[in-house]
Amino acid sequence: MGKEKKIIIAIDGPAGAGKSTVADKVAKKLGYSHLDTGSMYRGATFFLIKNKVPMEKEEDVLTELRKMKMEMRENKIFINGENFTPFLRTEEVEKHVSWVSSLFGVRKILVQKQKDIAREGGFVLDGRDIGTQVCPNAELKIFLSASPEIRVKRRFFQLKEEVDLDFIRKDLKRRDEYDKNRKAGPLKPADDAIFLDSSHLTQKEVVEKIVRKAREVIGDY
Ligand code: CDP
Repeated sequence: MGKEKKIIIAIDGPAGAGKSTVADKVAKKLGYSHLDTGSMYRGATFFLIKNKVPMEKEEDVLTELRKMKMEMRENKIFINGENFTPFLRTEEVEKHVSWVSSLFGVRKILVQKQKDIAREGGFVLDGRDIGTQVCPNAELKIFLSASPEIRVKRRFFQLKEEVDLDFIRKDLKRRDEYDKNRKAGPLKPADDAIFLDSSHLTQKEVVEKIVRKAREVIGDY
């Protein structure tokens, strides 16, 4: 029997739909690697905050980001050798990440990096533009969503610390609008994506559905 083909699975969707956790579990079940592309945009944003770069001017942002050497190792993100993983979900990052990721120059750098990482197949990538821009030839594309109120609740439980439900509600809405309406790599389902509404499904059920679909696709090769 020939070696099983390793496919690319793209999971896109709005904030708080549960993409990253689901993508990680799907990857583990299939023996694949997982790339959380949101963490790359968050890492770049924290790099700018840490280096006190004014965010208003695209040119300043790009000049600084050209000094950035980003490496992804074991689900952790290192920038110029430093582990940035603990800082990815701070309030300041949350505030600026949509703007930083709306810049064409930023997307050019990170999308190329994502394409290079996933070149060989055997990857589950999650983000906003995986099925449309990063891996338009992905063999399986999922658009994972959930109702706004469910996404707010999930994020509330994920953050564990003292957070205001109303703040999360406003923040998710703001980021969704920004991500959908930007010109560069907007949040948009690919024409050939399968829609999955996770509002009334457990995480386990979502993972099982995607793995089942992936096995069907792999079996067709
Ligand atoms: O986990 P959550 O859904 O809150 O967001 P994330 O996946 O960590 O992404 C954080 C932000 O990065 C999003 O709001 C997008 O603005 C941006 N992003 C993007 O532009 N393109 C991607 N492929 C992934 C994330």
